Amino acid sequence: MDFKALTAHAKENGFIYQSSEIYDGLAAAYDYGPNGVLLKNNLKEYWWRSMVQLHDNIVGIDAAIFMHPKTWKASGHVDAFNDPLIDNKDSQKRYRADVLVEEYIDKVEGKLNKEIAKAQKRFGEAFDEAEYRRTNANVLRYQGQMDDAAKKLATAMTDGDMEALRQLIEDLDISEPDTGSKNWTEVRQFNLMFSTQLGNIAGEEGKLYLRPETAQGIFVNFTNVRNTTRQKLPFGIAQIGKAFRNEIVARQFIFRMREFEQMEMQFFIAPGTQQEWYERWKETRLKWHLALHPREKLRFHDHDNLAHYADAAVDIQFEFPFGFKELEGIHSRTDFDLTAHQELSGKKLQYFDPEREESYVPYVVETSIGADRLFLATLTHALREEQVPGQDDPKNTRTVLALHPAIAPIKAAIMPLKRNHDELVSLAKSIFNDLRFHFEVQYDDTGSIGKLYRRQDAVGTPFCITVDFDSLEDNTVTVRDRDTLEQVRVRVEDLVGMIGPRVDMGSLLRSAQ
Ligand code: GAP
Repeated sequence: MDFKALTAHAKENGFIYQSSEIYDGLAAAYDYGPNGVLLKNNLKEYWWRSMVQLHDNIVGIDAAIFMHPKTWKASGHVDAFNDPLIDNKDSQKRYRADVLVEEYIDKVEGKLNKEIAKAQKRFGEAFDEAEYRRTNANVLRYQGQMDDAAKKLATAMTDGDMEALRQLIEDLDISEPDTGSKNWTEVRQFNLMFSTQLGNIAGEEGKLYLRPETAQGIFVNFTNVRNTTRQKLPFGIAQIGKAFRNEIVARQFIFRMREFEQMEMQFFIAPGTQQEWYERWKETRLKWHLALHPREKLRFHDHDNLAHYADAAVDIQFEFPFGFKELEGIHSRTDFDLTAHQELSGKKLQYFDPEREESYVPYVVETSIGADRLFLATLTHALREEQVPGQDDPKNTRTVLALHPAIAPIKAAIMPLKRNHDELVSLAKSIFNDLRFHFEVQYDDTGSIGKLYRRQDAVGTPFCITVDFDSLEDNTVTVRDRDTLEQVRVRVEDLVGMIGPRVDMGSLLRSAQ
């Protein structure tokens, strides 16, 4: 399904609304609707339980969004959490200079892929892609252009050389995507943190930041958590919470927002073991994603530019409708953060290692995923327009959200065959009132059964339970499976036993092991 149709579906079915829409909306802020909040909570629960419940050595916290302003000085965010900004003088629009170069590289890659697809068609079975990439002049030229631009971008970003970045945009002949204008300003560094003011202190002294990552709430609580849980290294601290970034280019729906939610885990380890743990967390996190999404939708992508705190970093990218993009980051953060907080606060943030018989500042491997991006990835993969299973006519289609049952917002919908029939309605409502104690269910009698089925398919409900006239005789109901459309007769008292295990988070958690 194309991206426009996906965003329309998300709104029409109560998943995501534009923030403050009645005032024409606020850019890059979104609200989750009734189905959206259920789905998002389920995704967060999947993450939380796999991290905290299934690891003896990972505990959770929930730190405040506001932190002492020195936190952001120590973490480097005040000085280094910048994006390179460039304005187009004709259109008055603002862009991220590095993104303009990345989009140029994507464009060249598109041309390269086209060249390969053409050759594949021409040579058929005999086509040797690796050989073609090595020898074809056009492919080599495109690859050279991409590599050269990527290298120059990485160098300019690492050196913080805004003039070199401006020069690169000029050399690559990059124009404004909407108007074609090349009338660019200089490139300036733009700090991404939002600031606000404490009520009782005036001026710089009272300046507060909205956290741009949840990780720092974990670092500053390292000693508190150690002292209160008696965890020994290696151990992790996990947290889910809001983060805020004044993104210059905020677009692609909930992919890049100014207010979003992160699920982060900092894993504290002995110095020298970071490579091993980095590899282990890469593998663990990929498995976690594979329980939800197919392998071909996911890939690793090593960072070209390392953040100011990292000595190694990789993204798990997902194939969104606009290409492979970062879904999760795994970073080897060394002892950068704890050392910086130790220096600025004057408080020891160390660990006495009984085996090594020495104290040291622990190293950290971080896993960090955006809950909203995971939501978008999940919708992207699950939402399909398909031929109705078991029907021959290709025109007979339906829209279905093929979510894993454990994350589906509603696990089962209960509907009477006729809405004006007191006995059918009464039995359907009594089933609904019993099942709601076990899992999320919905009662619906506001349309024909066919219409109600389609409505539930569109929001991903794995089971529909229909109460019909036979039900009044034998206390059985029809249970329809969303994916196969198979219908089986089930005794009312067996519904929990039948549906419960199939919608339980345990099955999903197990498949990620
Ligand atoms: N603590 C490390 C950190 O914050 P990051 O790569 O900047 O690293 C981690 O962010 C994850 O947070 C990303 O992989 C992405 O899923 C999510 N994220 C970052 N910026 C975002 C934004 N503006 N909107 C939505 N999600 C975002």
